Amino acid sequence: MKTYCSLVLIGGLMSMRPCSAAADHKKEEEESLKACAQLVLDGFRKIASTRDERFEGKVGEAAALCRGGQKALQFQNTPWVDWSQYWGTGDATSKPLGLLTKNGPSVRGVAGALLDLEYQRIELIKFNLFDNNKTYEQYVAGRDSVGGPALKVWPEMRLPKDHPNYPDVGGDGKQACKGDLIRWRTVTGICNDILNPLMGSTGQIFARNVEFDTTFPDLGRNELTRNRHGDRLGLLKPDPQVISRKLFTRQQSDPDACRAGYGLPENSTSANCDYKKAPFFNVLAAFWIQFMTHDWFSHLEEGHNQAEFMKVGCESQLVNNVETPLTPEDVNRLGCRPDDRIDKGYIAEDSEPGTFEHAGKQYLTRAPRTMSNNTTAWWDASQLYGYNDLSRKRVKRDAHDRAKLLLQPAGSSGPGYLPVFDDHDPINPEWKGQEAAGFPDNWSIGTSFYHNVFAREHNAFVDEFRKQAAQTPNADSGLRNPANPKQVIRCKDVTPDELFEVARLVVSAEIAKIHTTEWTPQLLYGEPLYKGMNANWSGLLGPGQPEVSKALNDIVVHNFGKSKDVEKSTQWYSVFASGPGIFGLGSRAHRYDITKPEDTNGGVNHFGSPFNFPEEFVTVYRLHPLVPDLIEYRELDKDPNKIAAKIPIVETFRGKATDAMRSRGLANWGLSMGRQRLGLLTLHNHPLFLQNLKMGRLDSKTQQIDVAALDLIRDREHGVPRFNEFRRQYGLRQLTSFDDFVDRRLPADSPDRREQEDTVKSLREVYGQHICDSSKVITDAQRNLDGTPINDCLGRPNGTMVDNIEDVDTVVGWLAESTRPHGFAISETQFVVFILNASRRLFSDRFFTSSFRPEFYTKLGVDWVNHNGPGPEMIENGMPNGHKQPVSPLKRVLMRTIPELTPELQSVVNVFDPWARDRGEYYSLQWKPRPGAEADEAFRAN
Ligand code: HEM
Repeated sequence: MKTYCSLVLIGGLMSMRPCSAAADHKKEEEESLKACAQLVLDGFRKIASTRDERFEGKVGEAAALCRGGQKALQFQNTPWVDWSQYWGTGDATSKPLGLLTKNGPSVRGVAGALLDLEYQRIELIKFNLFDNNKTYEQYVAGRDSVGGPALKVWPEMRLPKDHPNYPDVGGDGKQACKGDLIRWRTVTGICNDILNPLMGSTGQIFARNVEFDTTFPDLGRNELTRNRHGDRLGLLKPDPQVISRKLFTRQQSDPDACRAGYGLPENSTSANCDYKKAPFFNVLAAFWIQFMTHDWFSHLEEGHNQAEFMKVGCESQLVNNVETPLTPEDVNRLGCRPDDRIDKGYIAEDSEPGTFEHAGKQYLTRAPRTMSNNTTAWWDASQLYGYNDLSRKRVKRDAHDRAKLLLQPAGSSGPGYLPVFDDHDPINPEWKGQEAAGFPDNWSIGTSFYHNVFAREHNAFVDEFRKQAAQTPNADSGLRNPANPKQVIRCKDVTPDELFEVARLVVSAEIAKIHTTEWTPQLLYGEPLYKGMNANWSGLLGPGQPEVSKALNDIVVHNFGKSKDVEKSTQWYSVFASGPGIFGLGSRAHRYDITKPEDTNGGVNHFGSPFNFPEEFVTVYRLHPLVPDLIEYRELDKDPNKIAAKIPIVETFRGKATDAMRSRGLANWGLSMGRQRLGLLTLHNHPLFLQNLKMGRLDSKTQQIDVAALDLIRDREHGVPRFNEFRRQYGLRQLTSFDDFVDRRLPADSPDRREQEDTVKSLREVYGQHICDSSKVITDAQRNLDGTPINDCLGRPNGTMVDNIEDVDTVVGWLAESTRPHGFAISETQFVVFILNASRRLFSDRFFTSSFRPEFYTKLGVDWVNHNGPGPEMIENGMPNGHKQPVSPLKRVLMRTIPELTPELQSVVNVFDPWARDRGEYYSLQWKPRPGAEADEAFRAN
């Protein structure tokens, strides 16, 4: 009898062929192995020498066949990266069925994916670093016979004459930080890099990851941009509020039960705000990332922008491709607000940027406009501890023990809660009544949760240190003072101020570890990223091979790190760093001198471009759809399976969070946000309350703002290239029409596919179409597959009506991406931005590399970070997804700071995976209730 097996569903064509399963698998195995042999013969692919030769995440035929068989081969015709189709990169079904060897192909697939990702990182390091702090010319042209990417010190990163620490770092002479400035993370972030004191500090200019020429497309400054967008773009064109209402709004089955995110009186459980939920990520993960961004960057100062206010749309829409004013009926139907106003974004510099010439090509020295990052760019927990003198005044220390943060008892006993701002605190009036924090803006129950947890964690470290100091007062703490480096600082001699700063170092490193090894692998739930992120932290070799790790560490730091050869100091450095891991690079020397920058600073690498986040990084963190409108509130000591109240997040906005937190308690909020799934990052899924947010400070009739529309406006103000050029700039393949957003792996009649096709129609309506002109070249970052330049017709004949795919705002584009690797909560476009920047913020930070030493962290601090708390490492039960792994760092933090949660956390492997659910084997997105949680009401709804 003939059987039919469907192999793939790509390009809408279901390939059905007669086969006997076994014969087919055998043939595929043979084909794949032959392809592997060919791949070995071909050798490693060369790193692209120019940006238009980048590999775009697409591999050759042999590589695709070897790593993923026919499925991977057929996926090659799509714009999306190939590795997501390799064997073993999805759930158990991605492992080959019935092949002669089951593990071999999966190993090839996962290793192949990691290789592709490393190629991407190398290309990103090579083509995507654009510093806006005036060092770019040196990057391109080099200095003193050293190639730009191998440069390590820049005059622009010296402290200026008017800086209070100017004399301390060497004044007019060679600048190098020393003394107390190098012992811990400084408030403003200066002296993280000892030889580049200013780098990453508060107020430095945001970098770019895209060519300066492609920024600010609305200005139409050059021919390529004008060809790409015609005159179709402006700050309010296409209209941001119209985009928000047509493409971002969450559809409600019962609007009266949601009331635009305000729920029902008394937090009634009859309230309901529909949202699309992610299967493998919880609300704690949503607020975690907001908590992180408050550490990394801010365009705003003290919660506001310029004094001048501007319009924010709700004025026009495209009708048959013609910009047409909205009628009052349109406004009513859409629900937007023409009277909303917002303060204009800050601009650091908007004078004409200079130009320079190198090797026959003209370059801009910076982007046409620049913006400052008003917090430190370092991963230094500045949201907790402050980022300048003003914000530091908001951080309250315990008068009885200055090593500790002030926590006040509230309600039940326990470590207490953060104090509330008092009248003397330097705050924006809108923050009155909030709990004290360095970064208090956009506060809600979510940020309150993490600020309280990490304040408790800070104090838990201090308590443990004091406990050990009481037991062994004369023991060597590990700490050293560069003013007297040989003197052992005994545990009993560590001062409260020293201990405070050590605790900050420890908390910052824990946060970075949680983010790298716990949040990100759950965000990108699959084997390649589990391995990749753990490699970033502790190396592909793992702790089992310390000698090899150490040898590799030495090669990376001492050979490649010190090399003046551009390839060695960038590409080779990046590749080999994966062996020992980035964390701790350069910290393992036996002879280590705290006064020598070669030792303390020797493990950092900025790849020729001073570290700061690029504007494009901010864009991909505009993750507002993650947030639900209502929290399904539960109570630990009653019935955790019962939803006791539906609390609107907006009712916990700013000062309202204080009472919500104290009266209900950290444990109940942890339980509630741990069990609830967060919102999918997709179109039609923005929180309603954020589209209608009331903000008293706004000088407008409505005093309201649509934050979703504002996301688009701010990106336009910051000159972020639109989605398609954004992809090209990052080395990803362009799209050629809105239809490319449809996931062609889905069957033609699937409801998801139909929904995506409807979205395509909406995109076409909002962004429109035009008659193309093939004589207009629109980019130099990529070429057609046949090597010809890409023109306005995107592969179609001259004069064809084509989609305005070039105009799509980047946030809209990445939300519309439905073709994603398995288990990816974000799109591949966002992900590529992370590949570069998530690595760089580790590579560049001395305290995560060569200064991760007891001399700075104390012995207890080093162990605490390595073992996720005091004492030896704890190991998780079983083998989740096939890995023996430590109890995760955030789980340990929560068990320490909210011990009431310990029983609930027993079955939790990753704190960001919805609690009370047991997952199936190997990265399954399915789950079943864990024993005891079968009655949970949330499991009934999808
Ligand atoms: C209660 C929840 C939240 C509220 C009330 C809120 C509110 C806001 C507001 C009002 C702005 C606009 C500031 C401006 O440009 O004038 C903003 C910006 C932003 N939000 Fe949120 N947000 C929330 C949650 C989140 C979450 C979960 C994320 C995830 C990462 C996030 C990421 C961002 C980013 C990246 C910006 C841009 C910041 C900048 O330009 O420096 N927000 N948010």
